[in-house]
Amino acid sequence: GASRRWQLARELSTIKQVGVVGLGLMGHGVVQVTAMASSPEYTVVAVDGSKDSIDAGKKRIDQSLSKMLDRKVKKGVLTEGDAAAQKEGISSRISYASDVSALADCDLVVEAITENPEIKFSLFKDLARVTRPDCILASNTSSLSIKEMAVASGRPSHVVGLHFFNPVQLMKLVEVVRCDVTDPVVFEECKSWAQTVGKHPVSCVDTPGFIVNRLLVPGLAQGMLMYDRGDGSVEDIDKSMELGAGHPMGPLTLADYVGLDICLSILDGWVQKYPDEPSFVVPECLREKVAAGKLGRKSGEGFYLWDGDKRTTVA
Ligand code: 3HC
Repeated sequence: GASRRWQLARELSTIKQVGVVGLGLMGHGVVQVTAMASSPEYTVVAVDGSKDSIDAGKKRIDQSLSKMLDRKVKKGVLTEGDAAAQKEGISSRISYASDVSALADCDLVVEAITENPEIKFSLFKDLARVTRPDCILASNTSSLSIKEMAVASGRPSHVVGLHFFNPVQLMKLVEVVRCDVTDPVVFEECKSWAQTVGKHPVSCVDTPGFIVNRLLVPGLAQGMLMYDRGDGSVEDIDKSMELGAGHPMGPLTLADYVGLDICLSILDGWVQKYPDEPSFVVPECLREKVAAGKLGRKSGEGFYLWDGDKRTTVA
């Protein structure tokens, strides 16, 4: 059963110290769920390039931790004292640094920086230089090739994809991605590790978008194409998929939530690289909104107007 699998996962793992590079939307969540693991406990080295981005990441982690622990206090699962002690314990397992040299003792490093292949290649080269040869290097990329990063690192057998979902704290899945040069032991170890941070790992091969985004992103694009053609209003398209297909968010809300710039960069990259794949298309409205700075929830406007998590219809 599940508990036996979990125990096995724990026994298999040799991972003790985990590095995370990039403390944005995804990276801060990876730091948090790793530091929250209790069996085994991990130490986390959280790296970002500037003092401002480190401060912003720290603040996000702090707020999200408080939110989760306050919720447990309200439900009566934790006393206020226990919640404060847990928060202190979790926070004390995280250290922050602005240089990758701080990752020298890590057993696993997860990269969650900007989705630009050249910048990722250069980071992977640096990571292979500063970490031990047996350290596993993972990318949280949603649409780029793991093999290309593996080759760029010069340590291809130890490079995998560990793809989390937004919000990392709540979404239960991690796609563990291997390519033809991945060491099978490394791959199994990553799946075990994902279980210890409370996630369900699925095995993926190195294809565009792996499993989730290969299905999800073309679906978001189809929702946008419907809007472009005037086949339905923003609200009706979303309500249809919420109430008719049981999705927690309709496609246009979800696109706003993910970030329209992210959606555009995924689709643009795929269209360029796989021009013959008919499900990879860039809707006009997506290009227009991004060009106008309407990036979805993070910029305050996309298909909807956003105030934090609150969404209202654009008049
Ligand atoms: N940290 C801590 N707590 C959080 C949190 C966070 N980041 N976000 C929300 N919470 C808390 C909320 O405060 C809330 O607590 P409360 O009940 O005490 O107020 C609790 O978690 C539940 O939040 P909600 O009431 O908002 O929960 P919902 O039931 O509405 O679910 C959701 C929210 C999980 C985001 C749900 O709407 C959902 O599943 N949406 C779809 C998300 C999705 O598809 N994500 C994948 C995007 S694609 C991707 O990531 C891949 C990329 O590569 C493109």
